Amino acid sequence: MYSVNLSGRVALVTGAGRGIGRALAHGLAECGAIVAVNDIDAESALMTTALGRGELKPYPADVADPAAVQRMIDEIMTDYNRLDILINNAGIEPTASVLEMTINEWQRTLDVNLSAAFYTSQAAGRVMREAGHGVIINIASIAGHNIPLKDRSAYVASKAGLVGFTRECAREFAAYNIRVNAICPGVIETEMTAKRRADEAQMAKWLADIPQGRLGVPEDVLGLALFLCSDGARYITGQAINVDGGKVML
Ligand SMILES: NC(=O)c1ccc[n+]([C@@H]2O[C@H](COP(=O)([O-])OP(=O)(O)OC[C@H]3O[C@@H](n4cnc5c(N)ncnc54)[C@H](O)[C@@H]3O)[C@@H](O)[C@H]2O)c1
Repeated sequence: MYSVNLSGRVALVTGAGRGIGRALAHGLAECGAIVAVNDIDAESALMTTALGRGELKPYPADVADPAAVQRMIDEIMTDYNRLDILINNAGIEPTASVLEMTINEWQRTLDVNLSAAFYTSQAAGRVMREAGHGVIINIASIAGHNIPLKDRSAYVASKAGLVGFTRECAREFAAYNIRVNAICPGVIETEMTAKRRADEAQMAKWLADIPQGRLGVPEDVLGLALFLCSDGARYITGQAINVDGGKVML
């Protein structure tokens, strides 16, 4: 696996109880970072720390709750007195047509997928500004390029918003030596896609659309995240980079 040296850095990964977030937490820890493992589900956050190699600690919290986010950042500062890397990965993807979606579903999706990134970026950004450096990575989606997905209006809107927020944050935070980028995964093998992967017709359609001929795995996202955390990416900010086997070419 691709590797970089992150010794001495402290990283927070949200929604790291499973899937892409867990792979990111494990990969960062293997590269030497101390990793704060957030998830709304305390048990799965604990499981990620137990299964990882290196230093990982659980910080269960709902990232859609701004007060809980501030408490989490304060706890990390109390524990380690620094926060170098923030990865906004927590996300939900409810399925409903525009005509059938409830207002609560719409609002919750925007809260978790978009507003949470504002809460964490503001709280962590203040710490990073003080330190004079930082890296923020937002896990958006190829849906963030306004690519429509059937029955996922809130998800597509939230991810497009997250790409916009990434650029705005990158512009503002550049003055503080904080780089902000988005990763836009294609179809990745996690719980989020499990039901659709079990559908043979859907799988055939996906595979026909992906030049590399396979779905992604969480470690494919990890490779780019590690690079973006490294000094090799020091002149890269405000970008939204696809990790999708060539599915979308802009
Ligand atoms: N899997 C894919 O194909 C794919 C494609 C593009 C983008 N993404 C994005 O990647 C990210 C991770 O996706 P995944 O496939 O690993 O999903 P997943 O459903 O397997 O994992 C998401 C994790 O986020 C946690 N979470 C949900 N709401 C939370 C909250 N309010 N606070 C804290 N944690 C919360 C969940 O408990 C879960 O552990 C998401 O933002 C998703 O939109 C996934």
